[in-house]
Amino acid sequence: MTPRIWAVLPAAGRGTRFGGEVPKQYLEAAGKPLIAHALDALLSHPRIDGAMVALAADDPRWPGWTSRQGKPLLRCTGGGERADSVLAALHALPTDVGDDALILVHDAARPNLRGADLDRLIDIASAHADGAILGAPVRDTLKRADADARIVATEPRSALWRAFTPQAFRRGALTAALERARAAGIVVTDEAMAMERMGVHPALVEGREDNLKVTTPADLALAEYLLARGSAG
Ligand code: C5P
Repeated sequence: MTPRIWAVLPAAGRGTRFGGEVPKQYLEAAGKPLIAHALDALLSHPRIDGAMVALAADDPRWPGWTSRQGKPLLRCTGGGERADSVLAALHALPTDVGDDALILVHDAARPNLRGADLDRLIDIASAHADGAILGAPVRDTLKRADADARIVATEPRSALWRAFTPQAFRRGALTAALERARAAGIVVTDEAMAMERMGVHPALVEGREDNLKVTTPADLALAEYLLARGSAG
């Protein structure tokens, strides 16, 4: 039997960087919350079997969905850092999602994920023992700054990529990597960073630049535009 594929969405953030009191995953764009766009993009993919969301313990906004797109949608309680929320979700997955299951970790605040990117990510991650992530090469010139925002140097960018989500790894390997980072007191900012610490080299899969993470009000306006335009883009 081919291993199962599940999505994990850390959605326990309080969105403090955005300002305002609504956590960003619950901000609305094109008629529904960002987290609903993210879930529907994942669960409408034919190869994804279900999703686990990690929510803040006292989250009053979660609408209580138990399925979307005809697939199971489970919830658990997240943790203090994004990586803690991902680890909680990995532990909470059903037992029939084995250690060799492919887990796609995706930010709840990335609403504009397209099916073609998912196809390529799943194909490549399935073929690579070390897993794979979506990303894009850095296209801007990079400057190193001092504390006064004055340029100190121009950095070579040819080998640099931006890391997006989803990030796809085997359940067992990712759980072990995140546990190891936590035990070492290291806050990893994405799943690949935890895997890299284990000495493996996940594949970079070039994805669409408009798979944006909503962080600022300007991002929300851009997300609204992209989502309203839909797959025509
Ligand atoms: O704040 P940032 O943009 O890094 O958040 C990325 C994702 O991680 C968001 O979907 C957010 O809800 C989630 N998160 C979480 N638990 C935390 C912090 C962030 O699930 N403790």
